[in-house]
Amino acid sequence: MYGNGESTGARLHGGLTPDEIRATKGRRRLAMLTAYDYPTALALDGAGLDMILVGDSLGEVELGYPTTRDVTRAMMEHHIRAVRHGVSHTHVVGDMTADTYRTPAEAVETARALIAAGADSVKLEGALIPQVMAIIADGIPVMGHVGLLPQTAVERKRLGKTDEEADRIVADTIALDEAGCYAIVIEAVDPVVAQRATDAVDAPTIGIAAGIGTDGQVLVSTDLLGQLPNPPRFVQPKANLAQLVADVGREWVAEVRTPVAEAVAS
Ligand code: KIV
Repeated sequence: MYGNGESTGARLHGGLTPDEIRATKGRRRLAMLTAYDYPTALALDGAGLDMILVGDSLGEVELGYPTTRDVTRAMMEHHIRAVRHGVSHTHVVGDMTADTYRTPAEAVETARALIAAGADSVKLEGALIPQVMAIIADGIPVMGHVGLLPQTAVERKRLGKTDEEADRIVADTIALDEAGCYAIVIEAVDPVVAQRATDAVDAPTIGIAAGIGTDGQVLVSTDLLGQLPNPPRFVQPKANLAQLVADVGREWVAEVRTPVAEAVAS
């Protein structure tokens, strides 16, 4: 159960509650995809996902910025609103953007803003336990995120190869679980270490580039749908939407340019 019942709290719009998500541990695997806009959200709401994440990957894959650090809180609120308009059956997670949760007070303010925009819960990067506890005390459910933390990482590489790194990742996962996170993303971590962290906690873990031993999987939808060139190596795109869009565009251009007499005759 979340919060002390005295605060703004989260309004659930449909989809699983955080307690229901937490209770899936050991029973079934969780599936989460990102979405950033209304049409994608509308389509994915019927896909049977457990959660839709409005991730700060928004910056790189939707807005064309070089890093997730370029995403502001206002941008995130804007995209959460768009996704919310399309989603009524799936839990929506709003990602807290870089430098918007430097203190517990700032974290609560940001979390409230994302909930007001339409998120059902929030996600933040790292084992920032005072921030996580303050948000949960405010009645807002929190998803944790360990391993590679794109907002602060100097380099994008798989972590957990040294004993020190591995122990840190497992300890962070346990700390977030004990602080009350209802689920925890494990990103770009050696599969053996991700499995160790998964076995050490009650909250379900949701992996990305962390092997198959986690309690669920998350992917960036634009990678899965083939919307951008050069998807990460761990993703097998299931469509080539970039090609489809180009083909449809080309076909329509040809139609528009068909000479008028020819078009009338057909
Ligand atoms: O921003 C994002 O899309 C994420 C996922 C990779 C978990 O944080």
